[in-house]
Amino acid sequence: MSRADRFLNACRGEPVDTTPVWIMRQAGRYLEEYRAVRAKHSFLDVCHVPEVACEVTLQPIERLGVDAAILFSDIMIPLEGMGCRIDFAPGPVFAEPVRTAADVAKLRVCEPEQDVPFVMDAVKLIRRELAGKVPLIGFSGAPFTLVSYMVEGRGSRDFPHLKRMMYAAPEVYASLMDKVSQTVVRYLNAQVAAGAQVLQLFDTWGGILSPADYAEYVLPYTRRVIEGLDRSVPVIHFVKGSGGFLDLVMQAGGDVLGIDWHIDLAEAVRRVDGRFSVQGNMDPTVLFGPETFVRERAADVVRKGRAARGHVFNLGHGILPDTPVENAVALVEAVHEAGKR
Ligand code: CP3
Repeated sequence: MSRADRFLNACRGEPVDTTPVWIMRQAGRYLEEYRAVRAKHSFLDVCHVPEVACEVTLQPIERLGVDAAILFSDIMIPLEGMGCRIDFAPGPVFAEPVRTAADVAKLRVCEPEQDVPFVMDAVKLIRRELAGKVPLIGFSGAPFTLVSYMVEGRGSRDFPHLKRMMYAAPEVYASLMDKVSQTVVRYLNAQVAAGAQVLQLFDTWGGILSPADYAEYVLPYTRRVIEGLDRSVPVIHFVKGSGGFLDLVMQAGGDVLGIDWHIDLAEAVRRVDGRFSVQGNMDPTVLFGPETFVRERAADVVRKGRAARGHVFNLGHGILPDTPVENAVALVEAVHEAGKR
């Protein structure tokens, strides 16, 4: 058993030599080598140029010793392929938010190989450079999170435009979710065809809804997306803030459930009841504490994860820009130590 196997095995609930670990946003501003690349290239350039995307994807693999690479890109990229114009400041800003039936009608379903070929080129290049050292994760935003940004036009706290569309113009909402869902399926399958070995769906905003609204407005679309995926690779489904309705999230399917820190991992493992592997769930701000504290908290999460069918250690959301790198290095080491079988 080697470093290359432990992540895929944990996703499938097969034996591992130790608990595998990767970190959401592991290529990012907390790394000085990432900041050096960003001093020369805009964020969108990094996403659009395969050689640069490859370079930053590989940065955390050696530096941290993580057990998986994740394609460097952004969840907004396939929306460019649907006809949206997007800037980053630093979060996404849409030139024309999607608010009406006419706005939805103007969008096309993305044809990944034609509209965003640089993503598949990056996947191929990264696979070649990784040479089997660790597996490569491809990803997409889940339809609801993508639609949240498209309708609001940027990040939001209360999502007023989105909620108005959902509740007052449900047929417009449904037609938009439909087009975006088709895009997500094609986009993820194109990444698998190019060499992605695992897929993660990010539903960052799923947790803003009540369980009943999640069941009505989100679940049917995500379930259809997962049913449409090339299942030769494991699928990780992360709905941030879903601790109160994990039973619904499980109905979407997939192999691994992403868990944030608002639910204790032991409790999540009990509710999952052997049907999925789990990924998570340390609070990213723990990395601002002293190293001994980071190691204790990591070991605690690892211990709780051992009761699962499979556990992939991760943070409960992305690593923050001012995280001390040495604590991220210590975290990976502590997980591997505490997770030894
Ligand atoms: O995990 C990785 O290392 C892979 C790369 C990745 C990025 N964004 C790079 C990025 C991934 C998987 C994402 C996903 C993403 N993007 C999500 C879902 C996950 C989550 O964090 O909730 C969302 C909601 C977005 C949209 C987005 N892109 C936001 C809100 C921001 C600003 C955030 C911030 O930290 O300021 C971005 C920009 C972005 N995407 C950055 C990075 C490294 C920072 C950009 C920079 O270098 O200036």
